Amino acid sequence: MLQGLLILLCLAFTQAYPSPDPSLAAFLSDVNQQLSVIYDQEQLAFLQNELHGPNDLVALLQAELAHEKLLKYLGSISKRVAKFKRLRLGDALQRRQLQRMPQLGYEALSGAEVVQIYELAANMSDSYQNVQLCAYKQPLNCTLRLIPDVQRVVQQSRNLEEIEYYWLEWRRRTGLATRQQFVHFMELYKKTAKANGFSQAQDYWFHQLELSGQQAMGLLNELMSKLEPLFLQFHAHVRGSLRKMHGEQLVPHGRAYPQHLAEVFLGNSYRSASADWFVDIPSPEAGLPNITEALQRRGLSTTQRVFWNVAEYYRGLGLTQLESSLWTNAQPVASHNEDSCWHKAWRFYTLPTNNFSYCPLSDEERFFNMFEAQLELHYFRAAAAQPTLLREEPFPNFMNALGKSFALAAASPRYLRKLGLLRDAEWSGLPARLNRLYLQGLRVVFLLPVFYVLDRYRVEVLSGHIMADDNEAYWRHTERYTGAVPPRRRSNEHFDVPAKLLLEVDDQYTSQFFSTVLQFQLYKYFCTRTGQYAEDSANKPLDLCDLSDQREIGTILKHTMSLGSSLHYKEVLQQLLGTAELSMDGLLTYFKPLQDWLTQQNRDNGLEVGWLPN
Ligand SMILES: *[C@@H]1O[C@H](CO)[C@@H](O)[C@H](O)[C@H]1NC(C)=O
Ligand SMILES: *[C@@H]1O[C@H](CO)[C@@H](O)[C@H](O)[C@H]1NC(C)=O
Ligand SMILES: *[C@@H]1O[C@H](CO)[C@@H](O)[C@H](O)[C@H]1NC(C)=O
Ligand SMILES: *[C@@H]1O[C@H](CO)[C@@H](O)[C@H](O)[C@H]1NC(C)=O
Repeated sequence: MLQGLLILLCLAFTQAYPSPDPSLAAFLSDVNQQLSVIYDQEQLAFLQNELHGPNDLVALLQAELAHEKLLKYLGSISKRVAKFKRLRLGDALQRRQLQRMPQLGYEALSGAEVVQIYELAANMSDSYQNVQLCAYKQPLNCTLRLIPDVQRVVQQSRNLEEIEYYWLEWRRRTGLATRQQFVHFMELYKKTAKANGFSQAQDYWFHQLELSGQQAMGLLNELMSKLEPLFLQFHAHVRGSLRKMHGEQLVPHGRAYPQHLAEVFLGNSYRSASADWFVDIPSPEAGLPNITEALQRRGLSTTQRVFWNVAEYYRGLGLTQLESSLWTNAQPVASHNEDSCWHKAWRFYTLPTNNFSYCPLSDEERFFNMFEAQLELHYFRAAAAQPTLLREEPFPNFMNALGKSFALAAASPRYLRKLGLLRDAEWSGLPARLNRLYLQGLRVVFLLPVFYVLDRYRVEVLSGHIMADDNEAYWRHTERYTGAVPPRRRSNEHFDVPAKLLLEVDDQYTSQFFSTVLQFQLYKYFCTRTGQYAEDSANKPLDLCDLSDQREIGTILKHTMSLGSSLHYKEVLQQLLGTAELSMDGLLTYFKPLQDWLTQQNRDNGLEVGWLPN
């Protein structure tokens, strides 16, 4: 009894005053060193692939070798890691490093199963990339790729039969064709979870977020319900537009809209569709924002000029100046395909340097992308203060949320006017602002529910709630949360889930969902803090907030970024925002003028809001 009490006291003592452990310190120092060498090998290979790619065989082989080295190394230290964890030695930082030790992932499966799961994932991804469809009513023209060929045809088509034909073919050739592989993959994924020490596969699904399945789904559900009022008004309005375009028969009152028609409509918000394409845009005469020509006119006509312009922006926020060698060493990426050409920062773990690869295109998208890419540079530099094990972001896409919040700030009409890219008052009037919010909203507000459904579906499969190929369950969720139904009745004879899973069957979308939410939350926070947004001021709405030259932001940013993943993301948020929770509030504030407009329009035009189940 007394002995028990003593042990308890001792435990309490070590818990309350954890101190660094010398043997653990030596071990971790070695691990950090070894990992940094392996990571650099991997990074160099990825950089080569980016520069020469997209599928540079030498680079891919190098990456593969580095990955094998990593697995071998992790295998060699796994017993000691487990022992240190069990002994609960060390201080908080040391324990955190043990906690953030890379997982074996699929490699924890048995030999034959490892081969299988990789093959399945690769097969599904290949089938997505390599499938070729026959063109509508052209049985001899059968070399259309899904992206970009089919996408392009459908985006521009006004022929409903043609659109439906491609919708059905797409699903038949991707979804149905990979049904057995998907089922098999999910089985192996469950085993992977167990092999990595997770008794619940849904917990493994979210492990990179350091949330349990229950916590993550709870948070997602809460965020979805906050989004719902805006989503419902927006959905009602888009349904009204679709009805105008396609008639009552295809877009009936009080029902979810047909997915194939909605996809064309929403997809056009990413392309260069003109204002009159969107039949009910808030102000057709105000047009849509496009600064591509102004960039040329103002001399921001090369990537180099843009690079230094954006570097100056971040310096104005109080971040350190970038050295000129960064640009002189920067290299153009191989791909001149506009859809996949982006600027990117590269970090190395053993060296105190970074590299930069850039896209030679100089247009609006690449301009805003530069704000994201340079934030990465600053992030890598700040996080280099941490040991290798803690240099990653607190959750995947966290860094992206930071970068995107500044891209959002840079797209503010107030800032663009300051750069001379917009003429005076060209974009600050309400009609033009509403057009801009409308287009941004089509991209953001309709995407979150799709992410939600895809993760929820797979989580329910993992928890054993539904079968892996329960197509009807998939459509129930799709109808309930995205307000869309298939053009024809779908049953369990069909299988449509993989058709939406883009390239990676195991891509977890929740971190992208969170990242989008956080992007707006951060923007609102920075704007409030610097007085550029004020709740009740008509002159300072969030969508006009310009953060340029707000130097105090740099201090906050540097601190946040220097934390790396040394703390749980909630603690990072707590230090950054004064709250540990992700909140939809920023996004809702940003789109508030649009939501008001949509609500009024729906009322004035007698458009029904919401839908009854089919
Ligand atoms: C992957 O695809 C190939 C060719 O289509 C097929 O032969 C193979 O069985 C597939 N692998 C698995 C694990 O299903
Ligand atoms: C095949 O169909 C696509 C889509 O309709 C069309 O753009 C292309 O020109 C056609 N190719 C041939 C060789 O007819
Ligand atoms: C913007 O304008 C440029 C040149 O005027 C044009 O090529 C591009 O397609 C436009 N982009 C969008 C998204 O409208
Ligand atoms: C990366 O940057 C270094 C200087 O920091 C330079 O010497 C090197 O050539 C660059 N490498 C690539 C592949 O761009």
